[in-house]
Amino acid sequence: MLLVIPQVLSAQAVAHFRQRLEVADWVDGSTTAGEQSKLVKNNAQVAEGSPIAVELGDLVLDALGAAHLFVSAALPLKTFPPLFNRYAGGQSFGAHVDNAIRAVRGRPVRVRTDISCTLFLSDPNDYDGGELIIEGAFGSQEVKLDAGDMVLYPASSLHRVTPVTRGTRIASFFWVQSMIRDDGARAVLFDLDQAIQAHARAHGIDHALTLQLTNVYHNLIRLHADT
Ligand code: NI
Repeated sequence: MLLVIPQVLSAQAVAHFRQRLEVADWVDGSTTAGEQSKLVKNNAQVAEGSPIAVELGDLVLDALGAAHLFVSAALPLKTFPPLFNRYAGGQSFGAHVDNAIRAVRGRPVRVRTDISCTLFLSDPNDYDGGELIIEGAFGSQEVKLDAGDMVLYPASSLHRVTPVTRGTRIASFFWVQSMIRDDGARAVLFDLDQAIQAHARAHGIDHALTLQLTNVYHNLIRLHADT
């Protein structure tokens, strides 16, 4: 499932991120790439584990916790500490796959990358190119979002970022290990949750059918979730 989560960060929060990222310690993006990705990755990243990466990464995690659509769609078990990247001057990231397992730096934690996330931090009018192209069952999807908006998609998809030919594209990216490993099963649970929310809005959270469907939803999670 590919899903856009609008306004994960407010305009004010985006401005704060941009201000802090101005003074961050940027390094060559290939430092966190796998063998294949390294060949096609050409961008800059805030050094993993650096104070600003940790500070802003924690703010992203707080915002995600408050984003109901994200929680409903991702059913997160573990989230990799968010990283930050920058493309300018023709930089791009060719077609690649994300590593299946990522070790969290300095901690005995590994995250299975079920879902890839990109949180856009630049106004799309401020740069040309920089589209995130995601290959899926229905062909390739082109994603370029407003600052503060985020896309999530199956980490199993081949994807790339087209060259940024004008301006600068800054984003946060990270991976989620979901309680529901299978993308298709997760999509069905998301649809069910959205239907329950819609029913609750129309008929009340205490409506007998809302209660019954909520029970079904939680029993499905109970049956299939990793914890
Ligand atoms: Ni990637």
